[in-house]
Amino acid sequence: MLGKKLGVDLGTATTRVITRGEGTLVVEPTVVAMREGDTNLSLFGLAALEAAAEDHTLEVRRPLRGGDIVDGRALTALVTHALNRAVGRQRIFKPDVVIAVRSGMSGDDRRVVLEAAARAGARTVYLLDAAIAAAVGAGVVVTSPRASLVIDIGAGKTDLAVTSLEGTVAGRSLPTGSDDLFDLLTEHVHAVHGVALGRSEAQSAARLLVAASHEERTGEVGGVLVSSHELTTLVADHLRSLDEALTEVLDETPAGLRADAKGTGLILSGGGARLEGLARHLSGVAGCSVRVANEPDSCAVRGTALAVDNLDMLKRNFMYIR
Ligand SMILES: Nc1ncnc2c1ncn2[C@@H]1O[C@H](COP(=O)(O)OP(=O)(O)OP(=O)(O)O)[C@@H](O)[C@H]1O
Ligand SMILES: [Mg+2]
Repeated sequence: MLGKKLGVDLGTATTRVITRGEGTLVVEPTVVAMREGDTNLSLFGLAALEAAAEDHTLEVRRPLRGGDIVDGRALTALVTHALNRAVGRQRIFKPDVVIAVRSGMSGDDRRVVLEAAARAGARTVYLLDAAIAAAVGAGVVVTSPRASLVIDIGAGKTDLAVTSLEGTVAGRSLPTGSDDLFDLLTEHVHAVHGVALGRSEAQSAARLLVAASHEERTGEVGGVLVSSHELTTLVADHLRSLDEALTEVLDETPAGLRADAKGTGLILSGGGARLEGLARHLSGVAGCSVRVANEPDSCAVRGTALAVDNLDMLKRNFMYIR
């Protein structure tokens, strides 16, 4: 038997790993817990959060912000844990690994991710832009000359791309995502209603964050009544950079390919695709139909697991080490 093939989506909030063939999925918060001065100890994901809640000598570290590495040591520990979890520590053959990252990730950060996976025992490691991973996961045949327009909106980053013939014709990578909207909501509720919201309370108000809808809704958030109406401006402000990026990407795409992509319609993926009314809003900006991918949160990781079967295509296009 040859080594396993792994697809990894290194999300700002959630790390997902699929083992090709087995279809097993590792889903964990993108956190590790470490202890100052103790280089041997680190815990990953939910176990890290639970252990740190009990033991205050453990420090919870989040290695990514806005899709970029803010803590290299934590990132290396996280990648090691994620790969070990997927293939086990005892292995005869090393796995081939494809990792989805923000397309705008710097060369230095890319090297940190590649080296972390190589040191964790990968045979080959490839980095795939999140928007291309999402396109593949949504069923787009990226090797085709037909153009596709994809937007992946995660917790901390947003990737837009028009793809054709295995490459990106035009694209943008924004260091902001859906969690920034929840931060704005938290600030608003604090400023206007004087209530400090926790993250889960803010997220439970998601249905009040309606993009492009005139319907008014009211709901209780952190013990106060908040209306969707008072959040309209906040949502519009949040979406402005996405609207601009989408317009620019379409402007930069040659007319023939643009018509092609619009004919098929925009594909939305990532947890941020769940924002109600977003598809309708973006349809107005792009001037085409918009569909939310099936199970949008896991679209990119499914794409990496499919891409790992096509290493020749990856070799031609993407950065890798062997
Ligand atoms: N109903 C909703 N409306 C708006 N946003 C939502 C909704 N449900 C979930 N989200 C957002 O989706 C995020 C999770 O998305 P996802 O799992 O794609 O992020 P990620 O891959 O970890 O991060 P990234 O791709 O930005 O690095 C949550 O943090 C939340 O902000
Ligand atoms: Mg993501």
